[in-house]
Amino acid sequence: YRRLRVALLGAGSVGSQVAGLLRQHADELADRAGARLELVGIAVRDVDAPRDVELPRELLTTDAETLIVGADIVIELMGGIEPARTYVLQAINSGADVVTGNKALLATHGPEIFDAADQVGAEVYYEAAAAGAIPIIRPLRDSLAGDRVQRIMAIVNGTTNYILDRMDTEGAEFADVLADAQRLGYAEADPTADVEGFDAAQKAAILASLAFHTAVPLDAVHREGITAIDKSMMDSARHAGYVIKLLAVCERLTGPEGESISVRVYPTLIDRAHPLASVHGANNAVFVQAEAAGNLMFYGAGAGGVQTASAVLGDVVSAARRHIAGGVGVGESTLANLPVVPVGRV
Ligand code: HSE
Repeated sequence: YRRLRVALLGAGSVGSQVAGLLRQHADELADRAGARLELVGIAVRDVDAPRDVELPRELLTTDAETLIVGADIVIELMGGIEPARTYVLQAINSGADVVTGNKALLATHGPEIFDAADQVGAEVYYEAAAAGAIPIIRPLRDSLAGDRVQRIMAIVNGTTNYILDRMDTEGAEFADVLADAQRLGYAEADPTADVEGFDAAQKAAILASLAFHTAVPLDAVHREGITAIDKSMMDSARHAGYVIKLLAVCERLTGPEGESISVRVYPTLIDRAHPLASVHGANNAVFVQAEAAGNLMFYGAGAGGVQTASAVLGDVVSAARRHIAGGVGVGESTLANLPVVPVGRV
């Protein structure tokens, strides 16, 4: 196999798992991608920080800029806007494809990054940027490209779903459950991003942009968090047959002026009979209503290091396939390069 140089930026809860899985499944990933994915280095802020997965010391560096030079694929899992934006643009301009899980970056600088990639024929993959492990970016961008999405109702923040679920099912108090969500690695570094709905708003902007084929800026997203929800509100909702969930609602609206789009994140009363009501713990779900397809629901782990690493690695394999196919996108959108596997063997 040809070797592709993979640089990883960030070794937090997702990044360290990505590094671990890249090394652990190296042979199998090479077969799938048609190239050996050689992890050439991991850029971190502090080489001595404790990590979820033990990583070889010689791979760790604080010099991201040098690491990016010569990489074929750059995986950006640092989070935040800067310096992530600078590094992603540097990677694109030096000829690498980029895999990122950075919803804040894409929701605020998506057009700049995608334009930069278009200019040089690079590709940016971001399946991990919304709804953790759930494949939702490709379905919206590719599988539903021939349909018209009317509405998305989604639970896209694991931390708040975990908190609201435990308040609902155990009568737990907000502050106690938030501490547990942090301990379990669901919450952002600053949990305000979760509980005030910023994280969900970023993901809603990304999903709405894909669903409606238009750039939805973050400041067009209405946002309310869950800090005002208390036990008595939970109890009243339950007695009336509802549950409170933090929903991202993205809708196509038709009015006298023509079509418009509404994107909003807010705590919502959901009938307990609705499939979104049975999304428990840190799980996420994206309920899509499309004109021809009807109702679809995508469900699974919305947060968590190893779960989100699955989405990142899928993107890395796609990027590698595109790379070895000469950058024409084969592998991502066709079945042409699948190896022939005897029936009964997977
Ligand atoms: N803090 C985020 C969440 C992590 O709770 O959903 C995944 O983006």
